Amino acid sequence: MWGGRFSGGPSAIMREINASIPFDKRLWRQDIRASKVHVAMLAAQGIVSEADAEAISGGLDTIAAEYEADGVPENLDLEDIHMTAEARLTELIGPVAGRLHTARSRNDQVATDCRLWVREACAEVDAGLAAFQRTLLARAEEHADTVMPGFTHLQAAQPVTLGHHLMAYYEMARRDRSRFADAMARADECPLGSAALAGTSFDLDRERTASELGFARPTANSLDAVSDRDFALDYLMAATTASLHLSRLAEEFVIWASQPFGFVKLSDAYSTGSSIMPQKRNPDAAELVRSHAGRIAGCMQALVMVMKGLPLAYAKDMQDDKPPVFEAHDLLALSIAAMTGMVETSDFQTGRLRDLAAGGHSTATDFADWLVRSLDMPFRDAHHLTGAAVKLAEQQGCDISELDAAALRGLDPRLADADLPDLSVEGSVASRMSYGGTAPTRVREAVKRAREDMT
Ligand code: ARG
Repeated sequence: MWGGRFSGGPSAIMREINASIPFDKRLWRQDIRASKVHVAMLAAQGIVSEADAEAISGGLDTIAAEYEADGVPENLDLEDIHMTAEARLTELIGPVAGRLHTARSRNDQVATDCRLWVREACAEVDAGLAAFQRTLLARAEEHADTVMPGFTHLQAAQPVTLGHHLMAYYEMARRDRSRFADAMARADECPLGSAALAGTSFDLDRERTASELGFARPTANSLDAVSDRDFALDYLMAATTASLHLSRLAEEFVIWASQPFGFVKLSDAYSTGSSIMPQKRNPDAAELVRSHAGRIAGCMQALVMVMKGLPLAYAKDMQDDKPPVFEAHDLLALSIAAMTGMVETSDFQTGRLRDLAAGGHSTATDFADWLVRSLDMPFRDAHHLTGAAVKLAEQQGCDISELDAAALRGLDPRLADADLPDLSVEGSVASRMSYGGTAPTRVREAVKRAREDMT
């Protein structure tokens, strides 16, 4: 490509370090699409003849069909997907292929290809997260009344409903989708036509190129356009947060599926056996989602470090943007699918969840709230008196909800002739009617709102 200036060829090591074709061949669809739009614009502007543009466009179609059928050949001498496609175009249509690169550089070309790719990746993740949300909604509705232990510090705190717990992940996914939508919106500008860094002396129609590639507008500054990888960082940061959420759910499944908890039985489809212990049913998929979150965060960090301190405009460092983006995307797509499948197919152990929810004096707060409401006690006094009730229950070897009325009344004269409260777990969750609370009624409303939101 630059034979005019060079007499010697690159060393084998130079060739190897320079080549990106092993990974950027993944951009072939975007590359050919952008080239076709570019050459059609060049023809419309009278920069290349209609006949040449047609020959180039036809050749690009042939290349696309070849790549579709046989994959992209990996010749390190051709360095990257851009030169690989152009070299093949020359083989197919001869020297007229050389007109394609008019008013374009690989710098604006790769920036355009990558933006197209990342925008498609955002759309794909959005669809995956939407399916994940729909699965959460279905299971949340099914378990709107299922009582389970709610934790803080992983210590039994107050009873909650499983539906409410699952809806917490619906909310995380909702925010994740809005982060990908933001990333998409900011990536909605087309770099093509910025050329190497300074723009070009040819009379381009950048509006046309942008709109034909599905972008809202052309980028406004050529130096920025060829050296900006914010769109990839936006994607990776959104992916990091999404994977972090998935890893929290994954961790819950790991804990829930363990024998001491026994909250859930994972389906055969999402567990594995052990090669030595026949009784084992391991949550490997959940564990891998948990670890993938670490790798995705690593990809994000990798690109942050690649980009930091780069002077304007393009630098070859930026070629290294692609592996972390591709890796993170593959890991994220798989993680979303795995967690969707796990939520969909898991068998929640409702009896055990209810029994465990009722332990650990989990309705002690309900007793304290009742003291405030019915006996007009200041909350701090109520807290103190409830502590005494818990202590008494511990002495008697029972739960606070199981203390007999006489024992409870003995604690304080004000309890003597009051109607004692319902300290059952069902009564507890039903009373959590504050907006956003765990009451089954509120969970059903939240599911309904979410369904409306998603249509
Ligand atoms: N393969 C390169 C990349 O991914 C394409 C741009 C090369 N530009 C250049 N001036 N060497 O970044």
